Amino acid sequence: MLLGISASNRAWGNCETAVKSVLLAAMRGGSRTAFIRLTDIPLEPCRGCFRCLAGDGACPIEDGLYDLLCHIRSADNLVLAAPVYFMAPPAKLFSLLDRLLTVSEFNPEDDRRRRAVTVTIMGNRQWRGVAEPYVNLMASLLGFRIEDSLSVVAEGPGEVLSDAAAVARLEAIGTAFAEGRELEVSGDRANVCPVCRSDFFVIEAPSVVCPVCGLKGDLAAYAKEGTFTGTGGDVRWGTDWLKAHIETWMKPSVERFKANRREILSKLSDLRSRYALEEERGSVDVH
Ligand SMILES: Cc1cc2nc3c(=O)[nH]c(=O)nc-3n(C[C@H](O)[C@H](O)[C@H](O)COP(=O)(O)O)c2cc1C
Repeated sequence: MLLGISASNRAWGNCETAVKSVLLAAMRGGSRTAFIRLTDIPLEPCRGCFRCLAGDGACPIEDGLYDLLCHIRSADNLVLAAPVYFMAPPAKLFSLLDRLLTVSEFNPEDDRRRRAVTVTIMGNRQWRGVAEPYVNLMASLLGFRIEDSLSVVAEGPGEVLSDAAAVARLEAIGTAFAEGRELEVSGDRANVCPVCRSDFFVIEAPSVVCPVCGLKGDLAAYAKEGTFTGTGGDVRWGTDWLKAHIETWMKPSVERFKANRREILSKLSDLRSRYALEEERGSVDVH
């Protein structure tokens, strides 16, 4: 089954139109498809309780998360689209992203055979910000291998259909999924991180580093030729990486906290009392 997800706030906006263009082409090729509008799924904010790191790893919040993860888990392939809202993806994508620590237990098999195409849609390429790496990070954390990452300019709802090249590409992706064919990666992407597709780098001389994936490239080559080699560093993301991160860093940090808990709670209690005193004295505006 090919699953399409739109993370846009707009029903039948450009993201939904793009996803459904892929699904239509896949259906014409004989594929079964499903569509989820992320804004239809009730998702509460992560409470930071870390219960997902203990016991059975389940999130205690009872909302639409597990139904959604069941749908995603049953998908063979994924097309995920999100718009750029103020240089980043919309809040709904982040509200799912924040809850994904739990997928380390939910997706025990990370064989990366499942493929994803992501589509990031923006009004103006100069204002694309850092949305694309987050969209790709989400597909990756959900257990998919990013096979292509499209970056499309379209402003008004449905305007993506006026971009003949984008429409042809979306339909070709749907057909390739239906036929089980590999996709040809689009565009000239020598200057992007090969993992998260971001062209947003941090300079840590003599390296240039992708802050999202942790991949390191050679700064001199990047400055001279505009190419990111991305050979060194710890490649992050994917449920396999997440599981290792939880075991080697997050769980030990919880144990560290527990060992120092008495001292930390005493300091916290002291600070809270001093703050309450200031509130009583009227020094703090309470809203
Ligand atoms: C609140 C808001 C903020 C936006 N911010 C940006 C932006 O920072 N950069 C950009 O290129 N486009 C921005 N856009 C334009 C959208 O990315 C564009 O309209 C896109 O087609 C929306 O996709 P949709 O129709 O699926 O919602 C913004 C749109 C909205 C509604």
